[in-house]
Amino acid sequence: MKEQQPKSRVSARKRMRAMGWSFLFIVLSAMILPSTSYLFTSDQVYAQVNEDENQRSNFWRAVRQGNEGYSAVSGPETGVLINNGGQNWRQIRNGVISTYGGWAIIGSLAAVLLFFLVKGKIRVEENLSGLTVPRWHVLERFMHWYTAAGFVVLTITGLSMLFGRIVLIPLLGAKGFSAWANLSINVHNFVGPFFSIGVFAMLLFWVKHNIPNATDLKWLATGGGLIGNNHPSAGKANGGEKVWYWVVILIGLLAVCGTGLALIGWMEQLGFGDTTRASMQWMHQIHAISAIIWTVIFFGHAYIGTIGTEGALEGMTTGRVSVEWAKQHHDQWYEEVKDQASVESSSSAVADASAETSAT
Ligand code: HEM
Repeated sequence: MKEQQPKSRVSARKRMRAMGWSFLFIVLSAMILPSTSYLFTSDQVYAQVNEDENQRSNFWRAVRQGNEGYSAVSGPETGVLINNGGQNWRQIRNGVISTYGGWAIIGSLAAVLLFFLVKGKIRVEENLSGLTVPRWHVLERFMHWYTAAGFVVLTITGLSMLFGRIVLIPLLGAKGFSAWANLSINVHNFVGPFFSIGVFAMLLFWVKHNIPNATDLKWLATGGGLIGNNHPSAGKANGGEKVWYWVVILIGLLAVCGTGLALIGWMEQLGFGDTTRASMQWMHQIHAISAIIWTVIFFGHAYIGTIGTEGALEGMTTGRVSVEWAKQHHDQWYEEVKDQASVESSSSAVADASAETSAT
């Protein structure tokens, strides 16, 4: 037993050394062996590898491009793993739409201001006799101001969402903007359908006197009297108002309200097709672009209806306009209503309006 002890101590040391070398060999092999293929594969060989044969790359490329695969979950686009359009949508929204849209809105406000500074308020030229004619019925006025109020709310909340990051974060801070943006989207989604009803009512109520005719072309050709400085003829609505009316119907009702209702899922509910992420991206872009166009033109309408034209706002608030205003701006229409001229003042017109309201 005593003679065997040194022998087994030597072999144990040898075993330990062998184990150490083996371990080192395994680790180094594991690190080096996978790289050896590079030594035997020339650049030319790499160049010859046909990408089409690389099935994994092809698979992930297809996924990245938004191709639809199989999913056990049923429903539209459930087989799409990566929605590529989302990235494009974000770039278009934050790039082209907000940049050009922002400048268009600033440009429109600047144009209105410049027009006011150069041209000033368009006055009623004849002295007022005190005679007035009825212009807008109480229901029409309610519909107009109901829709206008909705428009203002939707414009403020909509622009807050589109330009909030650039304009509001520096003013309110990130947390303040987050709270405002959250309120904005909820108010926007809530008011939108009610507003759309108002715009649809405008289509029904006012289409009859907004059908374009030759008189409107002459009105537009002279820029409403700016060119040549004489008043072109007009019916109940002049050429400019008819342009605004069809902007409201075609851009406002069809493009803005239609896509807005699609974005909150109402179109799908009404059976107009599935709401997919791709369709939502399209709808959103059309919604934003057409809403900006509408807002740009709206500033012109609001200006002409208030400080731009003396006596115009009176018609939409009291329901009546002076016969002098009617003759100057809507001569053909005045001929139709002149028999109804009376000395009714604005205040009595308001009383008349409330009587009409209680009667309806
Ligand atoms: C908030 C600012 C607004 C003001 C100050 C304003 C003012 C006026 C005024 C004074 C009129 C009567 C013009 C006349 O008697 O000839 C009018 C008509 C009209 N407004 Fe407005 N408005 C505003 C907003 C809106 C909005 C947001 C819309 C559409 C959504 C709108 C659509 C119309 C239409 C369609 C007409 C009638 C034109 C026609 O019959 O062809 N307005 N507005």
